[in-house]
Amino acid sequence: MRATVKGVNGIDTTSDTIRFVIDGELYELRDVDPTRTVLQFLREDLGKTGTKEGCAEGDCGACTVNIVELDRNGEDVAVRAVNSCIQFLPTLDGKELITVESLVRDGEMHPVQQAMVEHHGSQCGFCTPGFVMSLFALYKTNPKPSRQEIDDALAGNLCRCTGYRPIISAAEAMYDHGVDTDWLRQPAAAKKLPPPGDRIERLKQLSRTTGLQFQGSGKRFFAPLTSDELAGLLASHPDATILAGGTDIGLWVTKQHRELDTVIYTGRVAELNEVNATATHIDIGAAVSLADAMVLIVEQYPGLDELFRRFASPPIRNAGTLGGNIANGSPIGDAMPALMVAGTTLTLRRGRSRREVPLDAFYLDYQVKDLREAEFVESVHVPVLGDDVLLRSHKLSKRFDQDISAVCNAYCLELDGDRVVTFRMACGGMATTVRRAENCESAVAGKLWNEETIAAACKGLAQDFEPISDMRASAGYRLRAAQNLLRRFYLETLGEVEQTVYAYGR
Ligand SMILES: Cc1cc2nc3c(=O)[nH]c(=O)nc-3n(C[C@H](O)[C@H](O)[C@H](O)COP(=O)(O)OP(=O)(O)OC[C@H]3O[C@@H](n4cnc5c(N)ncnc54)[C@H](O)[C@@H]3O)c2cc1C
Ligand code: FES
Ligand code: FES
Repeated sequence: MRATVKGVNGIDTTSDTIRFVIDGELYELRDVDPTRTVLQFLREDLGKTGTKEGCAEGDCGACTVNIVELDRNGEDVAVRAVNSCIQFLPTLDGKELITVESLVRDGEMHPVQQAMVEHHGSQCGFCTPGFVMSLFALYKTNPKPSRQEIDDALAGNLCRCTGYRPIISAAEAMYDHGVDTDWLRQPAAAKKLPPPGDRIERLKQLSRTTGLQFQGSGKRFFAPLTSDELAGLLASHPDATILAGGTDIGLWVTKQHRELDTVIYTGRVAELNEVNATATHIDIGAAVSLADAMVLIVEQYPGLDELFRRFASPPIRNAGTLGGNIANGSPIGDAMPALMVAGTTLTLRRGRSRREVPLDAFYLDYQVKDLREAEFVESVHVPVLGDDVLLRSHKLSKRFDQDISAVCNAYCLELDGDRVVTFRMACGGMATTVRRAENCESAVAGKLWNEETIAAACKGLAQDFEPISDMRASAGYRLRAAQNLLRRFYLETLGEVEQTVYAYGR
């Protein structure tokens, strides 16, 4: 066993020990590789092999577990499904972990498991623990999900042999199999922890007053608590990897076998976890999860609902952050086109100095950002545009759920009668970075909003972008699709087509 499991006698308050709870048992770990994944810890160190490894890259859901943590106000708990295969172990610090093994109590299956059995939701069984854990998260957070909410909750789980119909039947029936008042077991030895019912107290006991500084296998892991500490750590360790949700970085380790010598985690930094909605802006800390950020953005811009439903899967959106999506700088980052056309700006911080950068000026070239050494994204500011402004985005991918965009367009439109007051458009998947479509925008500015203008805008798009061909789409397809999606947006504004799904093959 590689990890040091100290057991349950007392809570370690030192800053070099990771502390978390599984099934009522407190784990205190030192000298463990900070890039060891939660899945490796469960299977190889604890022998809890119920949680499976399929893809090791967040794509199949076989490794799904649930995390319980204090919510932003510290007064309630949040239960969220995440992919354990790409979560680094120290990110569990201060949290409770629920695995598929946690659900059975005194030999009795959890209502989710009973429903899966009764509805024949499992054949080979390899995917089943992951489905059960995604359904468990749904069970705990939504007492009466619609069919679409069930489908969405399962978007990150793949099953090769049962087929989804019986699993969906189980999801619909799981509420008829009783209520789980408490799903966490509490071993008699866990004297220093409050009873499992008092989860909030238990998590408060695990809260830190100083940041985590942790070493293992020659690697260092820091989890600062404030933006000042984060800025200071980056100044002292400019080569460190900034880790947020790890949904990109996790794959650097599991797929590219990269060694990350120094990791600085933003997940505990108070300021980076703040959200603030004012009359003019939605201010979102860089470490706020995609799931939380999207709720706020969709409240303001309902036209982005489908884009965000189709962004990865719930476990990825629960772990991944908006700041990570922006800082990663991928040419197919799905949030960027919509945020760009909305006029989003970023606060970047380095040491004590801060600067504001418009998102559409942040990407300089493929994977090159306007981000200096030791500088980080602190917060994201999405303008609140008037009710007359329409903001929409179209994501085109091979599958509806959990797929990477071939093309992702976004548009911001304001009309005065038939005359265009404002038109902004940005595209992902069309160049080395996500960027605005300048020629296309000029062809529309101040013109009548009609077919002639849209035809000129499509010609502008062909000047704006020279997309590449790759396994997802050919260059010709990408350009034609981006133009056709713009035409579709035009028809949507006339009410001639509904805003609907944009996946081919469905
Ligand atoms: C299965 C799967 C499906 C996915 N689907 C989609 C999808 O549909 N659409 C999409 O756009 N993306 C998708 N992604 C990519 C990924 O989930 C997103 O890019 C996510 O937003 C990354 O956020 P994170 O917090 O996990 O970043 P991390 O992995 O923690 O970090 C990503 C990068 O950002 C840097 N970084 C993070 N925070 C900061 C900061 N505050 N300041 C400076 N640098 C920082 C890190 O150093 C790293 O370089 C998918 C990933 C997986 C594994
Ligand atoms: S093993 Fe496939 S998502 Fe984790
Ligand atoms: S039951 Fe075999 S993969 Fe789902």
